[in-house]
Amino acid sequence: MPTVTFTLPDGTARTVDSTGCETLMHVVIRHDIAGVEAECGGQLVCATCQVYVDAPWEAALPAASDDEQDMIGDLAVEVRPESRLACQIRLTPALDGLSVRVPARQR
Ligand code: FES
Repeated sequence: MPTVTFTLPDGTARTVDSTGCETLMHVVIRHDIAGVEAECGGQLVCATCQVYVDAPWEAALPAASDDEQDMIGDLAVEVRPESRLACQIRLTPALDGLSVRVPARQR
């Protein structure tokens, strides 16, 4: 099962497992990762599930859809080039070891 490491704004890191057939947002919810709110439950209307994907993993992810890019541009705060929405990242075995950083705030 893929593992994911979340680096929190205070610098602490949590490595958790995933079922291998869920989105990063579901991993956040199951493991109660602080700072990723995911208010809309993955409906792509809130952008409060923003994470910063660490550099080695950016190229491993499928490109963000136009809708994801629009949502990040319209609603996310403190956007960076490596910003992605956790609800749009489907974990696969190829993403084992994925590491992301949690923004200091989501709005
Ligand atoms: S959970 Fe709302 S956009 Fe991802």
